[in-house]
Amino acid sequence: ALAPLAVLGSALLTGCQQAQQSLSIGDMASAFNREIWVMSIWAIALSIIIFFGVSFALFYTVQKFREDKHDAPPAQFHGNNKLEVWLVAVPVVIVIFLSVLTVRSMAILNPTPDQATKIDILAKQFWWNFEYPEVKADAGGEVANGNEMLMPTRQPVALTVTSGDVIHGFWAPNIGGQRAAMPAVNKTWQVDTDRAGVYQGNCSQLCGASHANMRYKVIALDQARYDATLAAMKAYRAPEPAPGSPEELGYKLFMQGKPATDPKRPETGAASCAGCHRVQGTPAGGQVGPDLSFFGTRRTLGAGMWEGQKAEDMLIPWLKNSPAVKPGALMPPYENGAEYMVNGKPTKGYSLTDEEINAVAAYLRSLKLPEEADYWRDVP
Ligand code: CUA
Repeated sequence: ALAPLAVLGSALLTGCQQAQQSLSIGDMASAFNREIWVMSIWAIALSIIIFFGVSFALFYTVQKFREDKHDAPPAQFHGNNKLEVWLVAVPVVIVIFLSVLTVRSMAILNPTPDQATKIDILAKQFWWNFEYPEVKADAGGEVANGNEMLMPTRQPVALTVTSGDVIHGFWAPNIGGQRAAMPAVNKTWQVDTDRAGVYQGNCSQLCGASHANMRYKVIALDQARYDATLAAMKAYRAPEPAPGSPEELGYKLFMQGKPATDPKRPETGAASCAGCHRVQGTPAGGQVGPDLSFFGTRRTLGAGMWEGQKAEDMLIPWLKNSPAVKPGALMPPYENGAEYMVNGKPTKGYSLTDEEINAVAAYLRSLKLPEEADYWRDVP
């Protein structure tokens, strides 16, 4: 009975906040959420009735049969068949009623992936990758985006979630349908939303130092715009940097890294970014870190740790030393061979100059969808 009360409590506390990006399950943007909501309300209402019924009966009995009100003990008897039938029948009816509600909701909410838009989700410490398996990039490979998930409105969307390391939890409260992301397990379920907008998602399973910094955005677009955006992503090829531009230097460092000045000390050079990250339409095909194909279009950085201008401002500190700004981040520092922890052991990072870091940032910012396919357009 406590769970529905907690649900009610969080809804009361946060239900009145602004719709956009609130973390409230009371701000329902999907039929899924509404279905769960109806069940919760029934469970809460019945719990309240039972609570007051039992409390009343208890106080009534205590009051009525107080010793000082009676000269002799009240009538003593054993068993009351009529009362016992009621005491069994009423809970049975309540349980059957709630079971019917539950089974009905399960039937409605069960995945029907054949007719649903499919999105594959990979959770890792401490970021997300969203892949659109029904679309293959013209330049080869999948169409995927790190930490910002697109979904169409007003139609079933089949999400399949898995983890690349420990157990994480996929949860976008406004959309509903929390699921655990577990290594070597694919879980598919169906969600939907009837409202275009941006919704906040968080990891909901304690998973390490930056569990709280493992966020994402769900960007729900109307069907036509969703289709156009996916088409643009499919056709996307990372731009060729102009010769002599900072982007060109950034591209080179991204793809090849930098040779170590002292061959015995790798920290005097830099490993490539491409070993860990993928950029659609380039040789970069790494699968260790999030997909960076549309990095320049993204508005968040560090798996939703920063947004907007703050995300812009944090890009350089991020590249210089991400574990220093996000606890537990697994990307090595790229400045001054700073140390970071790998499996509890201090490990040297790499050494890029300020100019080189700026060049990598410039290259990342150039990885942009065309203006008309910017899924953040119209979002304040
Ligand atoms: Cu991933 Cu918490």
